[in-house]
Amino acid sequence: MKILVVGSGGREHAICMAVSKSSRAEKIYCAPGNAGIAAIAECVAISAMEFDKLADFAEEHGIGLTIVGMDDPLVGGIVDVFEARGLRIFGPRKNAAILEGSKAFSKDLMKKYGIPTAAYETFTDPQEALAYLRTAKMPVVLKADGLALGKGVLICRTLAEAEDGVKTIMQDRKFGDAGKTMVIEEFMTGREVSVLSFVDGRTIRIMSSAQDHKRAGDGDTGLNTGGMGTFSPSPFYTPEVDAYCRAHIYQATVDAMAAEGREFKGVIFFGLMLTEDGPKVLEYNARFGDPEAQVVLPRMKNDILDVMEACVDGTLDQMTLSFEDNAAVCVVLASAGYPVSYEKGFEIRGLDRFDQESTFCFHAGTAFKDGRIVTNGGRVLGITAKGGDLKEARKKAYEAAGWVDFEGKYMRRDIGRAIDEA
Ligand code: AMP
Ligand code: GLY
Repeated sequence: MKILVVGSGGREHAICMAVSKSSRAEKIYCAPGNAGIAAIAECVAISAMEFDKLADFAEEHGIGLTIVGMDDPLVGGIVDVFEARGLRIFGPRKNAAILEGSKAFSKDLMKKYGIPTAAYETFTDPQEALAYLRTAKMPVVLKADGLALGKGVLICRTLAEAEDGVKTIMQDRKFGDAGKTMVIEEFMTGREVSVLSFVDGRTIRIMSSAQDHKRAGDGDTGLNTGGMGTFSPSPFYTPEVDAYCRAHIYQATVDAMAAEGREFKGVIFFGLMLTEDGPKVLEYNARFGDPEAQVVLPRMKNDILDVMEACVDGTLDQMTLSFEDNAAVCVVLASAGYPVSYEKGFEIRGLDRFDQESTFCFHAGTAFKDGRIVTNGGRVLGITAKGGDLKEARKKAYEAAGWVDFEGKYMRRDIGRAIDEA
C-alpha cells in the first residue's frame, strides 16, 4: 500500500518511521516533510493546508491511506475533503476535531457528560471576564478558545496578572481569533501525564503513557514551548490511575462525542493532571503529541497500518495494542532563543550515528541547503533512545544528544528528572 503522511515535524518523522516498519508499506510520501523524513519517504512540496492539492496527489498516486499528523489541517476539515472524494484518511472529521479546536467546546462536553476536569467559565465579552475575575480565587488559568500553537494558556497568580491576560487574549488578540472566546479555569496542581489513544468512533485503545516538558528552561522555568523532551512510560501512571481513567475518562469521552453526533476516529491525546482529587483532564488533542510520538511509537509492537486501518474501518475492537517492556526518552535539540526568536540555516553535523533501533534522530525543523542538512526551525531535532528502564534510556538519550552539533544548539539538561522521584 502507498501511504501519504501530512506534516513536517518530529512527530511526522516518528509516524513515517513506524509506517516504514510495516510490511504493507510499499512507498511512503510525506507532504511537505523535512530533511530527515526524506531518508525514508519521498517529500512532496504541498503544504498541509492545501487540502485539494493533497487530495489530487493522493488520487493521482493511488494512495491507500493518508495519515494526518498535525492539528491545523484536522481542525480545518482535511478529512471531510478526502472523504468526499472517496479517499481513505486517518484522523477525525472537522466536527470531531473540535475536541481540540475549541477549549470551550471540550469543557462543555466534559461538564455535560461528567468527565473530571477543572471548574471553568466561558466568556466572549472582556468586561464580563474582568468582572468575574474580581470575584475569583487566584491563581486562575486563562485559555484562548482556539488553536494557538500550545501557547494560548496563561497562568495568572494575581488579579493584576489576570487583568493583563484578558487584555492579551481578548483585546490585543495576541493569539488572533483563537482569543474571541476565552475560558477561565480553576488552577490545579499535580503531575501531568500524556495519554495517547487510538479510536474508531466507538472503541478506544490506550497507548503507553508519556510525560512532556513544556517549559523552555531547566526546572520548568521560562516560556511554554511545543515541548522540550518526553519520556515513556510515566512511572506516575500507575495501574490505579489507569483504572480510574478507564472508568471515568477514556470511554466516556468517546461515547460523549458519539452521542453528540461527532463520532471521533483517529488519535485522542488526553492531557491529564493527577490531582489530589484524582486524575482530571487538562486538555484534549485530536492527534499524536509532539514530542510524545517520538517516545511512544518506537515502543509500539503493532503494525501501525493495521491499527490505523482498524480505526478507519471501525474494527478496533478486534485489536490489542502491545508495547515493548522498556522505556524511551526524547531530548529536543532546539535553536538558541526558541521559542521567541532564533536563527536558521546552520549546518548540522553528526547525524549518521543513529541505528534507528535503539537510538533515533527525529528531524523537526531541518532543511537541505547546498547538499547539506541545516537548521530550519525552533525545535530542530528530537533525539530518542530506548533502554531497559527510564534511567538507562535517559543516559543513552543524553549521550546521543552529544553526537550531534550545530551552532546555537540548546537543550534542557533535566528531561526525565522526575524519574528520580518516582
Ligand atoms: P493546555 O494547552 O490546556 O494543556 O495547557 C498548557 C499547560 O498549562 C498544561 O500542560 C498545564 O501545565 C498548564 N495548565 C493548563 N490548565 C491548567 C489548570 N487548570 N491548572 C493548572 N495548570 C494548567
Ligand atoms: N507535546 C504536547 C503537544 O503535542 O501538544
